[in-house]
Amino acid sequence: MTSQDRQFYGIYADKLIQIAAMLEEEINKMLDSISTDPELAPAEHIKCRIKSSDSLKEKLRKNDLPETAEAGLKNLSDLVGARVITHFVGDIYDVLRLIEANNSWKVIKIKDYIANMKPNGYRSLHVLMTVPFGVGGIDTIDTEIQLRTIAMDCWASLEHQLKYKKNIRNTALIEGELKRCADEMASTDLSMQTIRDLIRKE
Ligand code: GTP
Ligand code: MG
Repeated sequence: MTSQDRQFYGIYADKLIQIAAMLEEEINKMLDSISTDPELAPAEHIKCRIKSSDSLKEKLRKNDLPETAEAGLKNLSDLVGARVITHFVGDIYDVLRLIEANNSWKVIKIKDYIANMKPNGYRSLHVLMTVPFGVGGIDTIDTEIQLRTIAMDCWASLEHQLKYKKNIRNTALIEGELKRCADEMASTDLSMQTIRDLIRKE
């Protein structure tokens, strides 16, 4: 955590760091329980992060909320978040089952943007959970784990760049091409899953 973020999060900083570490540890344990064999490992990598104060303030502003750590902790679900990048689509649902069974948090909502992609082509599975907090009168906070395949992650990174770049000409063309890629990648993800299943059956 940068000194600027530490200053912004104040009395909550250490607890947020602790929660991020807990998330990472629990996710790694779950992944290892599926397989530690690199060839069978469900995840390509995982990432845990605490939202930077700059990006939190921007989100609070957009939502007409006061730009304070308290407002973020009480109203937003992704101050602490994790991303699990898997090889195959099936891995996502294998990990989801373990997330649901884990007692370190309580799952409150699952947003399946794989079964129901967003209109722009965004695909991922988001799990919202509450975790115990217990600092400054805040009992629990919401956190989020996003699960995606490598292909979905690659697409989301590129689409994110489009979203944050200003004064782009050809937006309609780029959006159309992105949507086409999203659909082709989803189709390839399914084929890869089928091939993997065939190989594993041999
Ligand atoms: P925010 O989008 O974070 O304001 O929250 P929300 O309540 O709309 O939840 P949603 O599930 O839509 O998105 C949460 C997070 O998922 C975002 O912060 C992004 O990390 C990711 N995400 C959602 N939609 C998109 C998208 O269209 N493109 C990309 N690149 N990422 C997305
Ligand atoms: Mg959104």
